[in-house]
Amino acid sequence: MANSDAPAPTAPPAHGPTTKSLKEGGTIEPVREILWGASAGVRKYETAEEIPPEMRKLIIRLMVVQADTEFASIQQHRPWLDSAPTLEDRWIEARIVADEARHGLQACRILRDFGEEGQGMIDELLKKTEGHHKLEAFNMKFDRWSDAGAFCCFVDRVGVYQLRAFQECSYGPLARAMPLMLSEEQLHLNFGASVLRRMVQDGPKYYGDKAEAQASVNKWYPRALDMFGHSHSETSQKAIALGLKRWTNEEARAKYIQEITPLINGIGLELPDPEFDRHIL
Ligand SMILES: [Fe+2]
Ligand SMILES: [Fe+2]
Repeated sequence: MANSDAPAPTAPPAHGPTTKSLKEGGTIEPVREILWGASAGVRKYETAEEIPPEMRKLIIRLMVVQADTEFASIQQHRPWLDSAPTLEDRWIEARIVADEARHGLQACRILRDFGEEGQGMIDELLKKTEGHHKLEAFNMKFDRWSDAGAFCCFVDRVGVYQLRAFQECSYGPLARAMPLMLSEEQLHLNFGASVLRRMVQDGPKYYGDKAEAQASVNKWYPRALDMFGHSHSETSQKAIALGLKRWTNEEARAKYIQEITPLINGIGLELPDPEFDRHIL
């Protein structure tokens, strides 16, 4: 039976050589046209110079928020680099910090393409200290080890939804940055879930206990849901029309809740109501 969520099969091109598989010596066709929004079908933007002013403003804004979250999370993880419970946990913390630094660099490289204006934003971003970032989730400390686990499981997962929303977007350099960032983020998510799982299943034999893990779930889940932004945001509508983002804030938040609920329940923890302790609705 056809799955209604599955993308419609694309017809083979009418002209040109038959597409070969990679094994047969074929190559992957880069996506050159804008896939959704008001300019669907038109060639993607490839340089900052050709981007219309409204879109330029939005890309700069989105990249500033993106880079800010990457740099902020380095500050949040830092104390646990040499105090996480096991050697493996410390190594993964170090990996995560290196990945987030690279993601911040990647967002700043896109900002740099916007000349002086972009460079000015980067200079401001680099001055920001702990507790002075844009989003609340990135101004909160990891008070206990379970916070590091819950942060990766909940907050990094929102980050993945934001990155997936940019996949194959209308600005080529941004679209091409997504696959590597997404594969690195997958490690962070898996690690977060594994910290919570080990706390619940192994308790003090590993570190902490189920109650501590649950307290961190209650602390980070509402902040993660807030990160998607206002349900009726005009900016998110604009981003879709410009071919930059795929989903509205509310659509992305609903997908996220659907994904994370069975995961957390499977670990033996409970999610608070999605309305609990929310600051942005
Ligand atoms: Fe990241
Ligand atoms: Fe991450």
